[in-house]
Amino acid sequence: MTKPKLTIAFYSTYGTNHQMAEAAAEAARAAGADVLLRRIPETAPQSVIDTQDAWKDQQQKSAHIPEASADDMDWADGYFFIAPTRFGGMPSQVRAFIDTLGGLWFQGKLANKTVTAATSASHPHSGHESTLLSLYQTFMHWGTFVVAPGFTDDAVTAAGGNPYGTSAIAGKVDDATRAALAHQARRLVDVTAKLVTADAADKAA
Ligand SMILES: Cc1cc2nc3c(=O)[nH]c(=O)nc-3n(C[C@H](O)[C@H](O)[C@H](O)COP(=O)(O)O)c2cc1C
Repeated sequence: MTKPKLTIAFYSTYGTNHQMAEAAAEAARAAGADVLLRRIPETAPQSVIDTQDAWKDQQQKSAHIPEASADDMDWADGYFFIAPTRFGGMPSQVRAFIDTLGGLWFQGKLANKTVTAATSASHPHSGHESTLLSLYQTFMHWGTFVVAPGFTDDAVTAAGGNPYGTSAIAGKVDDATRAALAHQARRLVDVTAKLVTADAADKAA
């Protein structure tokens, strides 16, 4: 089996999605993938960030993590996007990053790769699924294969039962959430490894 390469790209204002991304990266590495953990660039003005201590703290805590780039997307065989819910959709920071990838998309360099996504929101019924679907809608334009968790493991139901992707309540990355993220990451690694191995066999034939 060829070792798959995954880019885990996250955006986090207050830390929840950062914690989720670290958990996903740990599980993906343990499952045998080469992993790049990348922070989606902040676009809010520093003057706005400075008005909130929690936002400033998270900015400092994640400063050591390299920013996601088009090269990181080109490098990978599969992607795990992790970002909070904003008005029922993805944050503008994630949209802005996605909108820098037009060149890669145009060359077909995002196609035939795998992708999955996770999110958090303040309440149990306030946009988790619509955020994940907003991400998957774009990923379908890329021609990526969406590897949703479905109900393929008890960890999904134990974490609230979201078959679109793991979703947490903001500030609560508990053991059940970590287990669901680990299952989702392992599933992404497994499916990506199969695709990469089949592709290598085709090229060798
Ligand atoms: C501008 C804005 C819009 C938000 N919209 C929603 C929403 O539609 N539904 C919801 O439950 N929470 C919403 N939230 C709360 C965020 O989802 C929450 O802060 C986030 O999940 C925390 O993740 P983080 O710690 O990684 O930043 C919103 C927060 C902000 C700042």
